[in-house]
Amino acid sequence: MTGPLILLVSGSLREGSINSAAIRTVAAQLAADVDVTVYDEMGVLPHFTPDVEATALPEVVARLRRSIEGSDAVLICTPEYAGALPGSFKNLLDWTVGGMEIVGKPTAWINVSANATGAAGAHSSLETVLTYTGADIIDDACRHIPLAASDLSADGLVSTPDAVDELRSVALTLLERARQKQD
Ligand SMILES: Cc1cc2nc3c(=O)[nH]c(=O)nc-3n(C[C@H](O)[C@H](O)[C@H](O)COP(=O)(O)O)c2cc1C
Repeated sequence: MTGPLILLVSGSLREGSINSAAIRTVAAQLAADVDVTVYDEMGVLPHFTPDVEATALPEVVARLRRSIEGSDAVLICTPEYAGALPGSFKNLLDWTVGGMEIVGKPTAWINVSANATGAAGAHSSLETVLTYTGADIIDDACRHIPLAASDLSADGLVSTPDAVDELRSVALTLLERARQKQD
């Protein structure tokens, strides 16, 4: 497929993660029309160290940067840990700073917490960090779509039809904004 490419990133490493389920569901919904990459190496990224970045960039980090570079848009779904971003996900974002591939990249996030004010710390941190990285935050594609474990089916995907529609709609809005930006 040679259509737009969207990079999907979950901020959770948890096996039964609701955020990762949302990401997989977006991927499944778009797969017929859009090139989709689900980023799956967050758990093996080394701890960010400026010295390592400057002297011997690990191949796994180079792959992360190439994934961002090759995408038209980035969609993130992350939980909140201790009032902010999970450390592993912040580590991923730290690796993006020096690469610059994320600069100007249309980027949005989905908040799947149970209520609209939940995970406010995570998303405010995410906004701060993404702004620092230079990502182009697409506000109207950043959306709250509440999900619970009961919204997932045995295949690990979101099964509630309204939520599935919303997940798809967020991703398409993001891609449309990315396309408009390229025009
Ligand atoms: C270490 C830890 C810290 C957490 N801190 C918060 C928090 O500050 N605010 C919050 O709303 N939820 C917090 N939670 C709950 C998670 O955000 C919640 O369980 C979320 O659904 C996990 O996402 P996942 O299902 O994608 O793994 C915390 C969970 C863990 C394990």
